[in-house]
Amino acid sequence: MPQDTLSITDNRTGKAYELKIENGCIRAMDLRQIKTGPEDFGLMAYDPAFLNTANCRSAITYIDGDKGILEYRGYPIEQLAEQSSHLEVSYLLMNGELPTKTQLDDFVNKITLHTYVHENIKGFMDGFRYDAHPMSMLASTVAALSSFYPEAKNVKSKDVRRVQMNRLIAKMPTLAAFSHRHSQGLPYVYPNNELSYTENFLTMVKSIGTTNWRPHKALVKALDILFILHADHEQNCSTTATRVVGSSEVDPYSAVAAGITALYGPLHGGANEAVLRMLREIGDKKNVAEFIKRVKAGDGTKLMGFGHRVYKNYDPRAKVIKKACDEVFAVTGKNPLLDIAVELERIALQDDYFVQRKLYPNVDFYSGLIYEAMGFPAEFFTLLFAIPRTVGWVTQWEEMITDNEQKISRPRQIFTGQRGRNYVAIDKR
Ligand code: CMC
Repeated sequence: MPQDTLSITDNRTGKAYELKIENGCIRAMDLRQIKTGPEDFGLMAYDPAFLNTANCRSAITYIDGDKGILEYRGYPIEQLAEQSSHLEVSYLLMNGELPTKTQLDDFVNKITLHTYVHENIKGFMDGFRYDAHPMSMLASTVAALSSFYPEAKNVKSKDVRRVQMNRLIAKMPTLAAFSHRHSQGLPYVYPNNELSYTENFLTMVKSIGTTNWRPHKALVKALDILFILHADHEQNCSTTATRVVGSSEVDPYSAVAAGITALYGPLHGGANEAVLRMLREIGDKKNVAEFIKRVKAGDGTKLMGFGHRVYKNYDPRAKVIKKACDEVFAVTGKNPLLDIAVELERIALQDDYFVQRKLYPNVDFYSGLIYEAMGFPAEFFTLLFAIPRTVGWVTQWEEMITDNEQKISRPRQIFTGQRGRNYVAIDKR
């Protein structure tokens, strides 16, 4: 009769243990009873970079990395990308169900009400150097929001939490647009609450010298699809950072600022910027084979936009983006780097190095091409990831705060340093 247990014999002591298996996991704390003697702390699991550790239960996003499946609250990403909008998906993520028409109107209204930022934020932004990276501006200004909303510390109150979550979703496009305008030396454009979330954002970024400028509808639609694709991705690096920092019960602005800084890194959300730089460096289709050789030689060169910790198949988001490229390029003209990207993908997908390691294009491989065609500078790409990921961060943060099993995050270590040394006066060293 199969049992949902794991039998372990500790060969150091000869003792046998039976650990419960639940949801395909054993509890790491169950290992603690396995000791060599009363003085022994007990067995721990060593898992640098959390390769095989579930840190939470979550009902938000499901990924099957082998099959290339991504679902938000049970709905396949392909259906949402085709039929929904970013704010509807945000409602879905936050509440677990698709909204009725009335619920959606109410939610859109709430988000729209919060798009403005305190005027002092502009002064804060002005303090940055002209060439400041917009991601560090975004992280700092989001952290600063904590000082504008001191009530946000009350993380146990659902009502208080929800207002801050709405504020973060609403203000992120405004802050991102302001940081872009700062880096371009352009005056800030205030939100226009008569426009949709994505149209308003593009207008704050692009409009100059007129209040009538509106982005092309096809570009608004394409960007909204990209926003849907980036809305959540379960326990990735930035979401884990948000959860870990939030577990200290700090306010959500501070927790989300941690998520933004994690996203900034080139192995995470910074990869879309890195892909563009890589494509420019390759420069021509004819140089692709040579570049692939360098990657395989292991000199540290990576094929950016390829590979994923979870997906060992084509990233379903990359498939949707590849399709969206056509709609964007029909308006903007084809990005000449597309040919290089397609050739890179073609060669890599039939090369043993990539096949054996199951390295496929990820979400960042094609997104940068769209952003560039839309006229965004490369250093702005990661902000286009941060804006939509905000709903994921805040939803995961709230799930963590309301989970009775969660406590302050505090992993263990294997100590490898020296101990018990006597202090030596500086003139004796
Ligand atoms: N180019 C060349 N080799 C690669 C790449 C790549 N992009 N990605 C992984 N590998 C190799 C890696 O060197 C290793 O080889 P070996 O077994 O010989 O040592 C093997 O594949 C397994 O890789 P890993 O580094 O152990 O995998 P990981 O799960 O730790 O890293 C990753 C995942 C996304 C950090 C990595 O694939 C990578 O650096 N990719 C490029 C950066 C990138 O595109 N990041 C965006 C990720 S998707 C957006 C997001 O969610 O942030």
